[in-house]
Amino acid sequence: MPNDDARLRQVVALLAPRSGERVLEIGCGHGVAIGLVLAQAAEARVVAVDRSPAMVAAARRRNAGFGDRVDVVEADLAALDLGGRLFDKIFAVRVGAFARKDAGPELAAAARHLAPSGRLYLFMDSPSGDAATLGSAMAQTLVRHGWRVLDRSPVAERSSAWVIADLPNRTAARP
Ligand SMILES: C[S@@+](CC[C@H](N)C(=O)[O-])C[C@H]1O[C@@H](n2cnc3c(N)ncnc32)[C@H](O)[C@@H]1O
Repeated sequence: MPNDDARLRQVVALLAPRSGERVLEIGCGHGVAIGLVLAQAAEARVVAVDRSPAMVAAARRRNAGFGDRVDVVEADLAALDLGGRLFDKIFAVRVGAFARKDAGPELAAAARHLAPSGRLYLFMDSPSGDAATLGSAMAQTLVRHGWRVLDRSPVAERSSAWVIADLPNRTAARP
């Protein structure tokens, strides 16, 4: 398993944030990935959510230098309501809810905040070294809740699983 910085650099490389994009991170922890996204993509904006007040405080401190490009919100994902704000990319790293079969409320919250043609990126570690099984389980849960899997970690990957998905109906509704 790479160290924390290297691990999150890999995540942000896959996320490939672009200038001007609106990005939502779910379960931001200390906020390391927030800084990587904002440093990589000029004029991108990040809203980050965590249910832990201590993590929210740490993430705010770490990213204070980015000013109003970042907003860290204390909230539980399942009940998340960001007042109509929509995001081009939503991502979550090591947030256990997405690895459970009953992730319906969390995926519904992500769907509520996804812009037309937006994408959801889920990353999880596989301590048992069976990332293929974990990736399949996440992909199946997404599909069961109406998402379309666009890409996922290679089967040969042992230690981490990721899935990229969108909502086909929403994409089709786009002009
Ligand atoms: C294992 S940590 C990962 C932190 C960071 N993403 C990383 O990879 O370093 C999971 C974080 O997600 C937050 N979290 C877990 N479930 C959540 C939920 N339902 N709503 C909001 N935050 C949640 C936890 O408070 C914690 O800070």
